[in-house]
Amino acid sequence: MTGGGSGIGRATCERLLADGFTLAVLDIDGDTAKAAAGSGGVGLAVDVSEAEQVERAFATIVESFGRIDVLVNNAGVTGGAAATVCHETSVEDWDRVQAINSRGPFLCSRAALPVMIAQGGGHVITTASVAGQIVFPGRCAYTASKGAALMFAKSLAVDYAKAGIRSNAVCPGFVETPMTQWRLDVPELRSKVESNIPMGRVAQPDDIADAIALLASGRLGYMTGHALVVDGGWTSL
Ligand SMILES: NC(=O)c1ccc[n+]([C@@H]2O[C@H](COP(=O)([O-])OP(=O)(O)OC[C@H]3O[C@@H](n4cnc5c(N)ncnc54)[C@H](O)[C@@H]3O)[C@@H](O)[C@H]2O)c1
Repeated sequence: MTGGGSGIGRATCERLLADGFTLAVLDIDGDTAKAAAGSGGVGLAVDVSEAEQVERAFATIVESFGRIDVLVNNAGVTGGAAATVCHETSVEDWDRVQAINSRGPFLCSRAALPVMIAQGGGHVITTASVAGQIVFPGRCAYTASKGAALMFAKSLAVDYAKAGIRSNAVCPGFVETPMTQWRLDVPELRSKVESNIPMGRVAQPDDIADAIALLASGRLGYMTGHALVVDGGWTSL
């Protein structure tokens, strides 16, 4: 699990621990990774956009557990309140968002897949976003990065199906986490967001953890290459 220290990742770690999984948690914040991994797990300080750090982390995971049944590519950033339209986005901000949201899943999958191939199967679950399917206005770097993450997840599904490896994406709508707190803490901005959601509320991290845990459970075993939308009806409008 990457980005397991906070928000959706943290809630998913709690859920997977309760479901009996042993966890390896990679997060740029090592303390939160360790806390999320639980007593039988491993928490590692890793920047998922850095190839060497990712390779070292997966070597440690294999040394500790000998196998990887499920990889959850969840670490991500939006660019925060400063994210903007194309011509006002700095090259540095663009690169940082792509590096974490798109290169991160690539590097972690690249490290996990040989282990899954050797053991005869596995499941890669990527937290994309409805921003991979529809545009978030004024957030071009994030929207592009999630489109890439979603198509990357589908590409793994096609390329590794014969190796017994499935790949699916979860596409959350608006979720109340530290990532979105800056917007949801402002009552007018929160009500604008909620007025666009047919269910009338933003998601809580547990709503998304439920979807990831269902995929991780091994049920829905014929599903691969799927984008599981969990958005309270937002993109059905
Ligand atoms: N919150 C939402 O509304 C929402 C909606 C759709 C998709 N998502 C996606 O869900 C995922 C989790 O987001 P969240 O809302 O829980 O955010 P969050 O900020 O609460 O958690 C993100 C986690 O990723 C970690 N992280 C950030 N950069 C990292 C890096 N370079 N290497 C390793 N770890 C790193 C952070 O330390 C943090 O623990 C992200 O991919 C995000 O894009 C969120």
